[in-house]
Amino acid sequence: MEQRTLGTSGIQVSAIGLGCMSLGGWAYGAFPETDEAVRLVQHALDQGITFLDTADVYGPFTSEEIVGRAIKGRREHVVVATKGGFVVTDPSTHALGKDGSPAHLKAACDASLRRLGIETIDLYQLHRPDPQVPIEESVQALSELVAAGKVRAIGLSECDLPTLVRASKVHPIATLQSELSLWTRDVLAEILPWCQAHGVAFLPFAPLGRGFLTGRYRSASQFDSNDFRSGLPRFKQEALAQNLGIVEQVEEIARRHNATPGQVALAWVLSLGDNVIPIPGTKHLSYLEENIGAASLVLTSEDLAQLNNLPSPVGARY
Ligand SMILES: NC(=O)c1ccc[n+]([C@@H]2O[C@H](COP(=O)([O-])OP(=O)(O)OC[C@H]3O[C@@H](n4cnc5c(N)ncnc54)[C@H](OP(=O)(O)O)[C@@H]3O)[C@@H](O)[C@H]2O)c1
Repeated sequence: MEQRTLGTSGIQVSAIGLGCMSLGGWAYGAFPETDEAVRLVQHALDQGITFLDTADVYGPFTSEEIVGRAIKGRREHVVVATKGGFVVTDPSTHALGKDGSPAHLKAACDASLRRLGIETIDLYQLHRPDPQVPIEESVQALSELVAAGKVRAIGLSECDLPTLVRASKVHPIATLQSELSLWTRDVLAEILPWCQAHGVAFLPFAPLGRGFLTGRYRSASQFDSNDFRSGLPRFKQEALAQNLGIVEQVEEIARRHNATPGQVALAWVLSLGDNVIPIPGTKHLSYLEENIGAASLVLTSEDLAQLNNLPSPVGARY
């Protein structure tokens, strides 16, 4: 697979990574047994994916443990990205609170290293800026983790442009991770161009629109009440029914290429620039292989024009 670079860190990764959020049991309903999840990650590595994205709060903790088991014995072939800065405040609802304090980030990094079974995290990302802690203090703590050899490069997640600019003055920011897909394009206006101009890689999360852009979800009744998407405005029945118009156009383009709508959604994200590295998530081997196939789908200028003109979705993303 094509290789792309994590900003100015020089770290090379496959153009498509694997998002490991839901493997450990959080977010999207039923999840695989641990052994099966480990095999899925290993299969991804066998197929040329070299970039894994996880976080301590995924599970919590189980996603990192799965990644740790999967990379055992093949560490040198994998770039591991994880995140700290969130804490689960209510395990029964998986409610999250932010903690970007230096003490928390340093303790969280040590705990992630233990769960992952590695000596250095390739990319350590602040999961969210903490409004109670100046971004400079959080990034300074991450910078000290780099100096201590525990982290190779620093990333941010879901942060606005002024915060990103302030953070960059403390330590080089290799990556910014935020939601970006055919139905979430807010970052295209300012943030992605800034990243392109300043050597920051952009990691689109939910590049398949949390599965919606694959055409698989056509009714809100497909989500159990414990599925995170059941609470999201654009997945509510009325909004979702209107948003199907977006999927239908993606499906039309997919037919022209004998591809799937999910592959078109990923190919569009990849077309945005060679600093863009999507991290689709899946719990299924067949979907994993399909998503990898998107790396070789080339969209025409006519396809891109149609995709760039898709209507805005109905309903906020959160
Ligand atoms: N930084 C953050 O705050 C943040 C937030 C959200 C996500 N993330 C990261 O981004 C990664 C990806 O985001 P995401 O998982 O939320 O959304 P996503 O990748 O857009 O979509 C995942 C959903 O799409 C389904 N899917 C995947 N490939 C498919 C295919 N080929 N055909 C049909 N369905 C398919 C998955 O189904 P199955 O699971 O049933 O296979 C799952 O329901 C996460 O794993 C995580 O690493 C980060």
